[in-house]
Amino acid sequence: MKCLIKTVFWLLSVFVGFIAIGLGYLKVNDTVREKFFARTMNAFSNENDTAITNIRCNQVLNHASVHGHVLEIGSGTGINFVCLHNNTRIKDYIGIEPNIHMHSYMQETINRWQIQFPVRISGVSAATMTDIESDSIDTIIMTFVLCSVPDPFAKQILLEAYRVLKPGGQFHLIEHVLSDPNIKPMTNSFQKLIEPIWTIVGDGCRFKPIVNYLDEMKTIYSNVEYENIELPVPFFIIKDGLKAVLTK
Ligand SMILES: C[S@@+](CC[C@H](N)C(=O)[O-])C[C@H]1O[C@@H](n2cnc3c(N)ncnc32)[C@H](O)[C@@H]1O
Repeated sequence: MKCLIKTVFWLLSVFVGFIAIGLGYLKVNDTVREKFFARTMNAFSNENDTAITNIRCNQVLNHASVHGHVLEIGSGTGINFVCLHNNTRIKDYIGIEPNIHMHSYMQETINRWQIQFPVRISGVSAATMTDIESDSIDTIIMTFVLCSVPDPFAKQILLEAYRVLKPGGQFHLIEHVLSDPNIKPMTNSFQKLIEPIWTIVGDGCRFKPIVNYLDEMKTIYSNVEYENIELPVPFFIIKDGLKAVLTK
C-alpha cells in the first residue's frame, strides 16, 4: 500500500513537473505560444456550436448591422465567416490579425465558405492601423479580442476604430469579462486565481472589466450602448459577457 501511494505521488509529481515546464516554455517563447494558441483556437472554434454561433450571428453580426466596407479586429481563424459568408450587403472585408500563425487557418475558412466579396488579411496590430484611411469603414466587428490586448493598447484600438469609421459608422463587439465581485465573488476570485495560467495558454488573455473602456469612449463616440449577457459556454469563468455597439 505504502509503495502504491509512493508511486502515485511520484507519477503526479512528474505530471505536474511536465505541465510546469510546458507552461514556462510557452511563457518565454512568443512564437511557440502564438503557434500553440492558433492551433488551439482552430481546434476549438466550433461553428456547429449553435448556442454561441447564434449569439455571434444573430445578436452581434447580423446582416442588418454588418454592411459596406467591413473591418474585423482580431479575426483569428475566421470563425465569424459563418455569419458573414451569405451577407450580400458586404462590399469588402479587411481582417486585422497580428498573430500570423492564424492566417493559414483563416484562409482555409475563407476557401471553405467560398467567400464572394474581396478579402484582405493584415498582420498589423489594430492599435496602429496606419494602412487604413480615416473615415473609410462602414462597419467594424470584434469578437472576444480586448481580453487579449494589454493596456494601453485596448483603449488605443477603440480610438483607432473611431478614426477609421465613417461618420455614422458602427462598431459591433462582444467580449467575455471579469465577473462583478459583488454579484459573483467566487467566480471573480477564481478568475484572478487562474489568470496567470490563463494568460499563458490564452496568449495574453486576461479577465478585465471591459465596461471601463467603453465608458471612456462615451466622450469620443456619438453613441455607446452596451448590455451584459450570459455566454452559452460550458466553462463558468467565461460565462459573463458584454455586447456593445459604438456609433461614430
Ligand atoms: C481570443 S482570440 C478571438 C478570435 C476571434 N475573434 C474569435 O471570436 O474567436 C483574440 C484574437 O485577438 C487577436 N489580437 C490580439 N491583440 C490584437 C491587436 N492588438 N490587434 C488585433 N488583434 C489582436 C489575437 O491574435 C487573437 O486572434
